Amino acid sequence: MASVLVLNGPNLGRLGSREPDVYGSQDLVTLEQQLTTAAAGRASIDLRQTNDEAELISWLYEAVDSNTPVILNPAAFTHYSYALRDAAALVTKAGIPLIEVHISNPHARETFRHTSVISGIASGVIAGFGFGSYRLALMALLEPEG
Ligand code: DQA
Repeated sequence: MASVLVLNGPNLGRLGSREPDVYGSQDLVTLEQQLTTAAAGRASIDLRQTNDEAELISWLYEAVDSNTPVILNPAAFTHYSYALRDAAALVTKAGIPLIEVHISNPHARETFRHTSVISGIASGVIAGFGFGSYRLALMALLEPEG
């Protein structure tokens, strides 16, 4: 079965208790279950989270080397990590889809969140639909023809 890497950046390990008014009250375990259900046997979901920029970059190398599509919530790295952008560019320049997702809509929040250094090299961007952003990204990967 094909695999999809669902990579989550800093502080997303605290989903469930972190700012529930912004991010909801469900955690990453629930997200993995939702995505596995949505995949319906068409892909296996490999969901990971790290607070470490280097580890996130190493997972993007792994995506390149294994030709695995990526759903990426870069969290705060979205807004300033050129190193993560360069690593994400390796994925899309290899012809592998990488979809940037956000639980909240960063454009409706503080000004510093309006900039994404990732979007310019992503295959697409989905934001503002809670965990639904990830499910929509998964559908885009599994049903690219719509
Ligand atoms: C986020 C939005 C980012 O601005 C923030 O730093 C996060 C989560 C989101 O999913 O809405 O940690 O990526």
